[in-house]
Amino acid sequence: MKVCRRETFNAAHRLHNPSLTDKQNTDLFDKCNNPNYHGHNYVLETFVDGPIDPITGYVIDLKILSDIIKDEVLEAFDHQNLNLDCPEFENLIPTAENIAVIIWNKLRLRLDAKFELEIRLWETDRNSVIYAGK
Ligand code: NI
Repeated sequence: MKVCRRETFNAAHRLHNPSLTDKQNTDLFDKCNNPNYHGHNYVLETFVDGPIDPITGYVIDLKILSDIIKDEVLEAFDHQNLNLDCPEFENLIPTAENIAVIIWNKLRLRLDAKFELEIRLWETDRNSVIYAGK
């Protein structure tokens, strides 16, 4: 059984690889390379897969899952500039892919090993990434 919690956060970022030239960065990342940053309304879906607990009837209490996501993700990233404010991205380009890996690693540490974890991070209505540890 898989249960899902949906949360949203707003953050700014810039896609820029300092090992490339400015021209290469512009060619590669286009508008996302804007030196003055730009924002997204990220939607994070967190899927927890495990057995239904016969005592509670839940896989996991979604309030507990929500609190973990608030602690680990919203506190860290909501209304932040990912490049400037978040040490996780000091040396990591804050693409949706890399943000998803960081988020998954944070949540994995907080969840019992009996659960499988998968996340889907929507950067726009049309673009999303899915990560489950690979
Ligand atoms: Ni962007």
